Amino acid sequence: MPNAPGDARHTEQIDFHGLPALQLRGGGGEARVFLHGGHVAAFRSERHGELLWTSAHAVYAAGKAIRGGVPICFPWFGAHASRQELPAHGFARTRAFQFEGSELQGDRVLAALSLASSDETRAFYPHDFRARLLVSVGTTLELTFEVENTGASELAYELALHTYLRVSDVRRVSLGGLQGSRFDDKVTGARGVLEPAPPLRFTGETDRVYDSTARVTLEDPDLGRRVHVDKAHSGSTVVWNPWVDKAKRMADFGDDEWPGMLCIEAANAGRHRITLSPGARHAMSTTISAESL
Ligand code: BG6
Repeated sequence: MPNAPGDARHTEQIDFHGLPALQLRGGGGEARVFLHGGHVAAFRSERHGELLWTSAHAVYAAGKAIRGGVPICFPWFGAHASRQELPAHGFARTRAFQFEGSELQGDRVLAALSLASSDETRAFYPHDFRARLLVSVGTTLELTFEVENTGASELAYELALHTYLRVSDVRRVSLGGLQGSRFDDKVTGARGVLEPAPPLRFTGETDRVYDSTARVTLEDPDLGRRVHVDKAHSGSTVVWNPWVDKAKRMADFGDDEWPGMLCIEAANAGRHRITLSPGARHAMSTTISAESL
């Protein structure tokens, strides 16, 4: 695991929008990662261009989540189960991560960031943990989030790598790989809905949590590319687009930006939450890749 400050040829420590960040350059791809939230804000493949989406209205400030890229939702997903006053999607996305180091692995660059429990996190979540985000950059972007229970009692958590993908127009893309799996629909409240056979197309607000471990493929003819979201040790896949009305209600999301993004999130949420006994650890990964159509 990398634990030395990265070599400037593949890892540059920069300030971006006033926040400390890393610019990682591997063979065939480049990524920008904020220490704030361990937030991957951009991934550009030399062949396929920018794969992630970030709002032009994103706020870059301590205590705020960045709208776009890959926010880390941990240790809960969505609203807290019993304390509605706690921040949605947990606290990791607004905490300062530590940069542990980076190294070359073949022609890829691998960077490690960490977040440990503190008095501040215990006010939200009464458990001791150590979490590590590994970001591997090359022709693909690979993210791994590992959690270790460093306390004396069992802990449970939810996790999502809340990936905002850039699309030409969400009304003109289709999504394959979820057919035959079941989802809870957060828009209608329906639970356990079976996804039918044709590839999924988008005609309105979409907010679904699928029970699925499968690869998801986004077909985007107007950008001439197919984007794959692969994952490991992830039992849930979240698909989200706010559409017109919800976009208007979000201060850090432009009213007319919703057609340009689609979230496809590797997650362990709800019944797929992870339980760790003292000393145990669990890692979930997702890989974003593209090919030409
Ligand atoms: C998605 C959720 O993952 O994140 C949605 O399923 C939610 O319900 C969306 O609206 C954005 O959340 P937030 O907290 O970043 O506005």
